[in-house]
Amino acid sequence: MTQPHPHIACMSPYALANLDAPEGKTLISLSQNESLRPPSPKATEAAAQALGSSMLYPDPDWTDLRHALAELHGIDPDGILCGNGSLDLIGCLARVFAGPDRAVLAPAHAYPFFQTAAQVTNARFDPAAEVDAVVSVDAMLAAVQPDTGIVFVANPGNPTGTRIPKAELVRLRQGLRPDILLVIDEAYGEFSDHLGERFFDLVQGGNTVVLRTFSKAYGMAGFRVGWGLFPPAIASELRKVMNPNNVPASAQIAAAAAVRDDAYMRETCAITASLRDQATAQLKQAGFAPYPSFTNFVLLNMGSTEAAASADQRLRSEGVFLRPQGGAGLPHTLRMTVGPQAAIVKAIEILTQWKQEGQI
Ligand SMILES: Cc1ncc(COP(=O)(O)O)c(C=O)c1O
Repeated sequence: MTQPHPHIACMSPYALANLDAPEGKTLISLSQNESLRPPSPKATEAAAQALGSSMLYPDPDWTDLRHALAELHGIDPDGILCGNGSLDLIGCLARVFAGPDRAVLAPAHAYPFFQTAAQVTNARFDPAAEVDAVVSVDAMLAAVQPDTGIVFVANPGNPTGTRIPKAELVRLRQGLRPDILLVIDEAYGEFSDHLGERFFDLVQGGNTVVLRTFSKAYGMAGFRVGWGLFPPAIASELRKVMNPNNVPASAQIAAAAAVRDDAYMRETCAITASLRDQATAQLKQAGFAPYPSFTNFVLLNMGSTEAAASADQRLRSEGVFLRPQGGAGLPHTLRMTVGPQAAIVKAIEILTQWKQEGQI
């Protein structure tokens, strides 16, 4: 039989959420950081209209979507590339800039796909310690090796939900060698845009990329659209490895309509933040220890690996799925997506009962 490359053969498939609800229980998934609201009706209507033209290949340059994004964010449309979700762009960046002689560095509790993308290219993955689930720029700089090729940082982070200020990311960029590519993944950026810190200007330095996605605040995870702002030389290399028809036509049209309905997305962020802060307060009152969150999820410190596993088991037995975070080096935590209010109420009810029963 044909043999895979050894570095692929030793990998496990990327672990998505386990969503097998027990028989007779309705599945309540608070496990994938999906939006609590569907996409803007303007986006779904535009997509529906586009379906009739599906005999045509999509626009390989995402022209209308790029221009809508550029107008909203005040950035250069020529610097934008779109991907089949931001996962696609992360994978392409690793393929171009990482490899057996170019290591990948990321915070210890970073989004696990950064490590997967590194493994696919047979690059070493170096994790840098975090301080109480917050990225430490000092630890990141101390972990840089002579062969470091890419540094990935999600800000806000997933699964931590925490965030570092722009001044810290600027300090990270200034402390990195110029030949190291810094990728700032802002998958949850819209949830902290109200803080007034934008990162796109860092791209002008020529060795920093900023990524965003339609999967979170826009509620469009099923459409698979991610995008980023890239320096021209990086963009032209990335183009060589990208699937030239990566974003379906209906998804491009839906995403452009969603960008032009900014008020709807902002409203989703406001509803999410209000529910998140309410849930955080209730969880604290019930004796839990949620980390501060700048996203559409809350990470709960359950105190021990055993307690996290026990609470997870109890929730699952009722059909409620949070996401254990052993894969991100946080086995004592559970991550709860801020889903619809009824789902959050049920999850908090079960957790509170579990705690009162002194299960662990
Ligand atoms: C930090 C981070 N980056 C990227 C992604 C991937 O998003 P997309 O759906 O755009 O591929 C996620 C999804 O959860 C994420 O949390």
